[in-house]
Formats: sequence, C-alpha cells, structure tokens
Amino acid sequence: MDQKPSFHSVASKPTSPGARVSAAGASPAPLATLVIFGAHGDLTKRLLMPALYNLAGAGLLDDGFKIVGVDRVELDANHWRDELTSTMQEFTHDPTAEFYVEKIDEKNWGWVTQRLSYVQADFSKPEDIAKLKEHVQGNVVFYLAVAARFFGDVVEQLGHAGLLNEGENAFRRVVIEKPYGEDLESAKKLNARVLAQAKETQIFRIDHFLGKETVQNIMALRFANGIFEPIWKRDHIDYVEITATETIGVEQRGAFYEPTGALRDMVPNHMFQLLSMIAMEPPNSFDAEAVRSEKAKLLQAVHPVRPEDVVRGQYSAGTVMGHSVAAYRDEPHVAKDSATETYVALRFTIDNWRWGGVPFYVRTGKCLKGRQTEVVIHFRKPPYALFRDTGVESLLPNTLTLDIQPHEGMTLSITAKHPGPKMTLAPIDLRFLYKDEFQLAPNVGYETLIYDCLIGDPTLFQRADMIEASWAAVDPAIEHAKQSGDVPEFYEAGSAGPAGADALLAREGHAWSGLQAP
Ligand code: BG6
Repeated sequence: MDQKPSFHSVASKPTSPGARVSAAGASPAPLATLVIFGAHGDLTKRLLMPALYNLAGAGLLDDGFKIVGVDRVELDANHWRDELTSTMQEFTHDPTAEFYVEKIDEKNWGWVTQRLSYVQADFSKPEDIAKLKEHVQGNVVFYLAVAARFFGDVVEQLGHAGLLNEGENAFRRVVIEKPYGEDLESAKKLNARVLAQAKETQIFRIDHFLGKETVQNIMALRFANGIFEPIWKRDHIDYVEITATETIGVEQRGAFYEPTGALRDMVPNHMFQLLSMIAMEPPNSFDAEAVRSEKAKLLQAVHPVRPEDVVRGQYSAGTVMGHSVAAYRDEPHVAKDSATETYVALRFTIDNWRWGGVPFYVRTGKCLKGRQTEVVIHFRKPPYALFRDTGVESLLPNTLTLDIQPHEGMTLSITAKHPGPKMTLAPIDLRFLYKDEFQLAPNVGYETLIYDCLIGDPTLFQRADMIEASWAAVDPAIEHAKQSGDVPEFYEAGSAGPAGADALLAREGHAWSGLQAP
C-alpha cells in the first residue's frame, strides 16, 4: 500500500489554482488506453474527466495514455473535447459542484484533451463494437459509464469481438458501474454473463464510496491502532448506526430512480461497503484478495433482513435549506402514485461470534435536513456508577463517530469531570478533522479507483461473491415491497425522515444521531 498515491476524496477548494493531487511518491500507471462507454453521459463529464485531469496533474498517467470516447451520439473528437471543456469551465463558477476549481490549469487539461478520440457506436450492434479494434491495442481499460441495462450486452460484444483477450504482455480490464443487478437473481445472471467473457481478475466492479479517503481510513483506524480492536466486538459495542443522508432530491434522474429506489441505489453497494469495513475481521495482509475475502465473509454473515426491520419513506413537499421542494411524486418522470422509496432504514444483525446480537442500523435518503455520511459506534454504558448522585442511567455511553462527509474526521465522545468543587460530569468531544491535519488537494473520488484499475490493484473493487452476498441480505426487503404493495411512509422534505425510522430503533431503547442542517 506504501506506493499508492493519496487523494483526498471529496470536492474541496484547492489552496492554489490547479493545485496538484498529492501523489505520495507513486509512479505513473502503465501505458494504457481508456475506452469510455457513455462518453456523452453525465458521469463522464462531471466525474471521470475531472479525475483524469487530476491524475494528469499529479503525473500519474503515462505519456502515451489515450482516451477513446464511445457513445451513440453523433459527435467527433473536436466536438467531444469542446463539450468536456465547457463542463470543466462550469466547475470554476460553482463552488458547490462536485469538483470546484478556481481556474482550470490549461497545461493539465491540454494534456488530457490531446489524448482524446471518439467513436460513434450503438452498444447493441456487434459491428459497431468491433470498430473499436482499429482504435485500441496493448493494455486497455473499458469503462462502462452506461445505463445498467447495457452492462451485460457491452461485455458480451467486447468478448465476441475478441477485445477482452489478454496477450502475454497486455491486459484487458472492464470497469462496471453500479447498480450491478436489481436483486440477487439478476446480479447472479449478470455475473454469469460477464464471467463467460472474462476472468474475475479482469472485472473491476466499482463503488465510488471506496474512493473516499475517509472510507479507506476505516481500515487504518481499526488495524493501525492498538486501542480499538480489543473493544471492537459485542462485549463492548451496544449498536452501530450507518447513515448516508442527502439534501438533494432525485433531480433529473427520475427515470432511473423510479424503478430503483433508495434501497437498491444505496444499500447493497455503498452502505454495505461501509458495513464491511466496520465489521470485517482483520485481513492477514493488505493483499487485495486477503482484504476482499474478509469483506465477502462478513457480507455472507449478514442475516437476510426481516421485513419488519425495514422502514421505507418517500418525501412529500417541504423546505430544504430554505428552498421549497416539490414532492417526489411531482418530480419529472415519476408516477403520481409512485410507491418508490426515497428513504430507507433497516436493522441488520451479523451471524458471527464477534457481532452476534449487535444491531447494525442503516439509513439513507434524499431531501433530508442534512447531508451526512457517518458511522456511529455506540459503546455499552459503564456497568455501574461510582459517582455520588449519579445513577447508571444518567451516564452517557461513549460513542465514536466516523465522519465520512462532509466534515471529514472523527469524534470520540467521552465523559469528563466538570470543573468545580462538586463531582459533576459533562460530555465532551475529542475531535480530529482531516483538513486540520493534512494538506488536501481537490478531487472527485474516482482518481484512486481509476489509478488502481490501471495498475491492476482490485482491493477497492467488488468481487462477484461480495455483490451476491450483499443482494442476498437485502433481497427479502425487495421481495416484501413487491409482494405486499406497501406504500412508503411520507416524510416532509427537509425533515429528518419518517417517524417509523425512529420507532425502529426505539424498540430496543436506541436512537439515531441527529442530522445537522448545513
Ligand atoms: C450514487 C447514487 O451512487 O451515490 C446517488 O446513485 C447518490 O443517488 C450518490 O446521490 C451519493 O454519493 P455521494 O458521493 O455524493 O455521497
């Protein structure tokens, strides 16, 4: 892991225009061509291109690196370049964008744009995919930034065209975005189709949460410090909360979101990546397979969720951060009687010796009061109170909060003596913030992942067994929603979510941590 570059994971303002990503002594990735399917799409414009720009700025791409854009849209390389350049320019006007820079560094951006070419292709036509043969040779990464319904077809076409055959000294890799399947059965089918064309080692199933520095830091926290691991278990931990709430709604993505919903969009992927980092056993090395096997083992131990442990919600009209927001059912491409959930809270248990009986609560949703991605570990209360006038019930349990975003850091909440002649206790927070300790460079979170794929390190990518184990754990909730026709509980946009989510925890005397308005 030493030679890996360190990137900061979310948008942050650079200290100087065109500031470089910290490369921490890493060498440029090997010479390769990156073929992006979905070149005209939003992901490419808003995230992949800024990530390539940052990698170029950090000197982590080989001088012979090439980028081939593939899409149905009639474009040529010049037009594609202009389109990408104008999106990059937009970032300089919007400090709230995923990637904000005061000024685009012309040299770095020029480095990227000189390497672009474009192929117009219909993903469903074998003859179109075969055209790519003229454009690529040697090492190639095929990045599938396309709608999920095309994943299987594109990989099959690539396989049939012989484009996935690896030579003695050349690699052929495929990056597949999410959602990877829509339930266990479809994920298994997709795995089977993909693995009929390529080996598992060629497939990089991406989950952008793993590109976040603070998510990767969970491993450092747990395994590079001696103090946490001995208490990281059922004897000392009462319950765990995993939260990823957003203030934004579905925006222009109604057509994608309607058949997907919050559960499929966030839980078996992003939320379970956090869960596996928090709960896995220590791997015996940082070797990719050692880490992924521990994560897979953990995911396989997650007990399939019980329908009574699931609360689905949908936002009604309200006010978020001072702005009026329409109800989900009034968003474009959304049915007026939609039963899609925009919020979900679930209670999981893990069937192993470390975690038996400890509830893991997961919640995620849109149009909420605060944007907060965090894990809160609630430790058990001290067994008895030795302070006069202090009952055990009034002692606050310790919590450890891992702030993934937006305030990246960590807080340990403990109890201390309030100054004065009387023995009174007061809660205090020991807080660490990344920005206070490290020099952060701007990035979008895809830098590490693209670089890792180019160097062939799959540690941060999902293996087929991890994907299937995750779907297996949430499948009962999907099935129940389908069969029962239950309508999600409404919550007002800008609130903390549906009341049912609080009741889910209250059953065991637990409570969610508050959401902070930005
Ligand atoms: C995506 C989901 O995978 O993750 C979106 O499809 C969600 O619906 C996004 O908004 C959240 O990611 P981040 O990095 O903004 O927390």
